[in-house]
Amino acid sequence: MITARISTGIPGLDIMLNGGLIPGRTYLVKGAPGTGKTTLAMHFAMAGISNGESVLYITLEEPGENIKQDFSRMGFDVYNENFTLIDATPTTEHYVLVEDFFESFAKNLNKLTDAIKEQFKTKRYSRVVVDPITMLKFTSSDELEYRKAFLSFIKTMMRLRTTVLITAEGEQADIEEYLVNGVIELELFQKEGRLERALKITKFRGSGFDNVIRPYEITENGMVVYPDKSAL
Ligand SMILES: Nc1ncnc2c1ncn2[C@@H]1O[C@H](COP(=O)(O)OP(=O)(O)OP(=O)(O)O)[C@@H](O)[C@H]1O
Ligand SMILES: [Mg+2]
Repeated sequence: MITARISTGIPGLDIMLNGGLIPGRTYLVKGAPGTGKTTLAMHFAMAGISNGESVLYITLEEPGENIKQDFSRMGFDVYNENFTLIDATPTTEHYVLVEDFFESFAKNLNKLTDAIKEQFKTKRYSRVVVDPITMLKFTSSDELEYRKAFLSFIKTMMRLRTTVLITAEGEQADIEEYLVNGVIELELFQKEGRLERALKITKFRGSGFDNVIRPYEITENGMVVYPDKSAL
């Protein structure tokens, strides 16, 4: 049986994924600062928008206004009425709330899961982005609670029948890697005195994938992945 695929919005990456992502599942994009996690997530979101879908994008670190400014300049349709950008970046008041109510990360993630569920009562979104999850994780002390909350998040998203892309900072993303359905890793490295970018897929449940590390670039129009070139 051939599973239907949905586009990541980046043609070269779709090729590496044997056609795209399997819908209704949760995926992780991990990488160091500035590697392009938000850019990749925005391509994923906009692929939905240009398909007439509704997309929910939750930003937890970069202020929503910044995202709108930068990505509209790159030609992304961030003011489209089907694109809902929720700015969940902390303000001073939010920090107080976090300390009072959510002493562990797990409780934070559960709160996020509930907030998304609430949001779906008004509208059905076929794609959801959480960018990045790392912020919530820093307040966690209990790994078991975190795993439970993360699994419950994934199961809730499955029930909502939406495809989810989560971003995370590389070093901190090990637990999530086990639990999600697929992992895309972005890397910056030095080669002949310059910074180069490389992308690899390390996991994709239910599918084969390109296991070669491929170069990518971030241009004024976003991310371009070269599925015919090798990064090394
Ligand atoms: N017009 C452009 N031309 C070339 N590169 C660009 C352009 N705009 C952005 N970039 C590159 O994209 C990078 C930012 O990408 P992005 O915000 O997606 O990364 P990120 O992994 O989400 O970073 P962070 O961890 O800080 O959130 C910049 O550091 C810059 O190198
Ligand atoms: Mg980012």
